[in-house]
Amino acid sequence: MDVQTNLLVLGIESSCDETGVALVQATVGTAGAAVPTLLAHALHSQIEMHQAYGGVVPELASRDHIRRVLPLTEAVLAEAARTLAEVDVIAYTRGPGLAGALLVGAGVACALGLALDKPVLGIHHLEGHLLSPFLSADPPQFPFVALLVSGGHTQLMRVDGVGQYQILGETIDDAAGEAFDKSAKLMGLGYPGGPALSRLAQQGDPMAFKLPRPLLHSGNLDFSFAGLKTAVMTQAKKLGNDLEVRKADLAASTQAAIVDVLVKKSLTALKETGLQRIVVAGGVGANSQLRAQLNAACQRLGVRVHYPELHLCTDNGAMIALAGAMRLQSGQQQAQRDYAFDVKPRWPLDAISAAA
Ligand code: KG4
Ligand code: ZN
Repeated sequence: MDVQTNLLVLGIESSCDETGVALVQATVGTAGAAVPTLLAHALHSQIEMHQAYGGVVPELASRDHIRRVLPLTEAVLAEAARTLAEVDVIAYTRGPGLAGALLVGAGVACALGLALDKPVLGIHHLEGHLLSPFLSADPPQFPFVALLVSGGHTQLMRVDGVGQYQILGETIDDAAGEAFDKSAKLMGLGYPGGPALSRLAQQGDPMAFKLPRPLLHSGNLDFSFAGLKTAVMTQAKKLGNDLEVRKADLAASTQAAIVDVLVKKSLTALKETGLQRIVVAGGVGANSQLRAQLNAACQRLGVRVHYPELHLCTDNGAMIALAGAMRLQSGQQQAQRDYAFDVKPRWPLDAISAAA
């Protein structure tokens, strides 16, 4: 007979400049687990606080996580009409990310676990991003190709199941989000630059400037974006006083170069693996040009594309609670009553892969 247990998983995300808390409900048992349900989530973005400095200030990030995490937890529990005593497992982001920021979430999760006598689960931030499309109205099915594009990572992966991650290619220098952010900074668009650059690009001509498509024909699935940033800088300098009037064109051309490489490499990964499904996750997955071009290309090929809900593309607690729940469901990880936590600021995703 199947034994089914309902679990309430609290998730805490604090790896960078967003404090996220969420509660998901999951069925754990032998009878083919259903996708967990998101009951409530709350988020505080520190973007405004860091804007004055043009980027994330790690010490300020940690202090702000401390201020936000418990009020957000209370808000989530209130919204879900649950109490802390009803929570079964506490999942937190163990890495990668800013050490001090990670320690806040890990410390709070383990303190809560100890006080409530509930087990805890350290989650890989990128696994959270990777699994976040499972919370969308159109959840994927395994296996799939994943394009993980965030501020710190750009990877193509083959995903055969929870915890079964094979890296097919990754950036050898800057991440795609970094390329957006650094180019935006050069154009005086502030932080974080991705959304701002993307907005400005809507009014520009993507063909106006010829920018490099690094490693496009490298024959492998690796990326490189550092050269693009240099090319944008050179172009901006060349424009001099004209930069102001040509900024939208430069933004559109920069975005076109990044999106072009991401789409072409994704198509190559689909071809090489023979898979018929691709999942896009991470902050850059919110980019409308990337979505439009990938959708068009995949439609031509008869490949299904899945994205997280727009508000779950960037960092959030829901993806951490979800990843925790899915790891428990799949038996990949057991929640621990060991509260002597550590964090992993640098932590490759394939280090947690059962397939590695
Ligand atoms: O996944 P995420 O929230 O944080 C990391 O784990 O890194 O991603 C943040 C990144 C930033 O580089 C930001 O500029 C970029 O995602 N981003 C975008 C857009 N929205 C966020 N880049 C391009 N277009 C967007 N609409
Ligand atoms: Zn992230």
